[in-house]
Amino acid sequence: MSTREKARGPTAPGSWLYVYSDGGSRGNPGPAGIGGQAKDESGNLLLEVCEFLGEATSNVAEYHALIAVLEACGGLGYDRVRVRTDSELLANQITGVYKVKSKALRPLHYRVKALLDGFRAVEVEHVPREKNNPCDVLANRAIDEGLSGVLKAVLQPGDKGLFPAPAAGDGAVPSERRRRNEPVSSRKQMECCVIGTGYVGLVTGACLADLGHLITCVDRDSEKIDALRQGDVPIFEAGLEAIVERQVASGNLRFTSDIRGAIASSEFIFVTVNTPPDSEGKADLTNVDSVAREIAAVINGYKVIINKSTVPVGSTRRVERTIEESMDEYCEFDVVSNPEFLREGTAVSDFQKPARIVIGSDSQKAIMRMIELYRGIDAPLLVTDPVSAEMIKYASNAFLATKVSYINAIANICEAVGGDVREVSLGMGYDERIGFEFLKAGPGFGGSCFPKDCRALLAISVDSGYDFNLLKGVLDVNREQQERVVMKIERVLGGLEGKKVAILGLAFKANTDDIRESPAVNVIRMLLEKGAVVKAYDPQAMDNTRRTLSGVEFADDPYQAVRGADVMVLLTEWDEFKWLDYSRVGELMKSRSIVDTRNCLDPVVLRKLGFAYEGIGR
Ligand code: UGA
Repeated sequence: MSTREKARGPTAPGSWLYVYSDGGSRGNPGPAGIGGQAKDESGNLLLEVCEFLGEATSNVAEYHALIAVLEACGGLGYDRVRVRTDSELLANQITGVYKVKSKALRPLHYRVKALLDGFRAVEVEHVPREKNNPCDVLANRAIDEGLSGVLKAVLQPGDKGLFPAPAAGDGAVPSERRRRNEPVSSRKQMECCVIGTGYVGLVTGACLADLGHLITCVDRDSEKIDALRQGDVPIFEAGLEAIVERQVASGNLRFTSDIRGAIASSEFIFVTVNTPPDSEGKADLTNVDSVAREIAAVINGYKVIINKSTVPVGSTRRVERTIEESMDEYCEFDVVSNPEFLREGTAVSDFQKPARIVIGSDSQKAIMRMIELYRGIDAPLLVTDPVSAEMIKYASNAFLATKVSYINAIANICEAVGGDVREVSLGMGYDERIGFEFLKAGPGFGGSCFPKDCRALLAISVDSGYDFNLLKGVLDVNREQQERVVMKIERVLGGLEGKKVAILGLAFKANTDDIRESPAVNVIRMLLEKGAVVKAYDPQAMDNTRRTLSGVEFADDPYQAVRGADVMVLLTEWDEFKWLDYSRVGELMKSRSIVDTRNCLDPVVLRKLGFAYEGIGR
């Protein structure tokens, strides 16, 4: 037996963790790993077992088993570990007697070493491979009990329970359950950096700081960083500025362009750089790759690297590989997929009260750290594998986009048959299986997410050999919907050449200044091509539009926009457009005509005022 004990005071009896390793050495899978998460009858967090197929010759399975068990137990309070294995090779490798020759095994080996280093005392024992040795007995019991019994079988030698964790005074740290009841103020402050201070990065950084963590937001744009340091928040997002101001003052939030310094001082590294679509609609990962290389250059201890940008399926592995390949010396790290579900305009509350938190990882250690990081946010937690986590993001956005295109298609039929799509949505929405959300007909979906993510998911489906016709239809309906708006305006005006069109709303939806893939901007482009004269107003998005659209006149307020217009077209559902003085609007316009693409005005009132009113699907 080899024993190593750190000089950290005497060891209390009875707090040893026993790990028996028998992964695959007898030609069967064996109790070789842990993955996923479950709860026991009392609601305690349990770690569930999955199987890694054994490769007796290289010990891959044994190493996986060890990593999984050690990671799980590190978080559960044991500080001393006895590894008993019937593999002489493994015992000698982890005690350093034998060198690890296999390249594939080396990262696993270093990981085991790093994990063992975290214990106060470590013993490694080779148990001869004879009948009924403790490893064999446990492995057989595990196999008999099925996979869910494996963890208990592996971790309960002599029926000494792992759950609940050993009592305090037995050399144990507080259990998961006890820590959960701690007041917020005593939650552990974790050091994180957020690389990429765009929309997602800034909201994530500020809200994590608000949870009490120490956050460094990084961006290579030093002008942006300077502005943020002055409290100048570059995006329009409800509640964000106040949080940034508060957390900068508290010292929890800082901004820098020094990416390497930020990585070196953080345990958690959020990757929130942009992933613009390439010419085929696939997400361009140049920025993600370069962050991975930066991490590899400065990694100096265990790090959890979190992919938060929406990235193609397989990117968690890609980041992992890039770091591994670029590292001079192996250092322990995990990459986790943790997609964001923030809506523009409500991103802060979406972060603070999410519908769910998705953690995609194969590493129990990283999962435990992520759970700890998000402690304080009350939301269902879904722990899954990285690929499924990546798919959840695309599938969610594409599904919501499908709902929008579906209702827009229904709206078009309603127009033809004389129904009112708003009534139809209402009638559908009462069915809880359908719900009311994302059933508002309009000029089509836009923004930086839905169109891009639908195209990216299509590209993924093509690569995977699946013909995703449904999603193609969703994008087709969306494009046609914008064309239909232009056709409607053209029909109302009897031609567009030289006609004055007042546009109210430029942002892709209300409460944002974002015009990326905005239906309003697309509609304006088509109107200009057809010779219309466009005067536009938006309460927040005019600066952004000025930078991208030429040939449009911008108005200071809605009344100025409609002055002398042949038609007023409402394209973004800003509240202020609902409460305009429409008598005044009518007096200012050349002819009283309104196309309301968001169905947010009252046609009865407007018709009484002498307007010709056209909505969508009504
Ligand atoms: C969307 C998702 O809703 C978020 O969950 C996700 O995190 C985000 O993308 C992202 O991937 O980062 P967002 O782009 O801010 O959020 O906008 P949504 O509120 O979802 O609206 C998208 C588009 O659909 C807008 O153009 C909106 O006007 C349109 N829409 C939405 C409709 O036309 N009808 C509806 O009923 C709902």
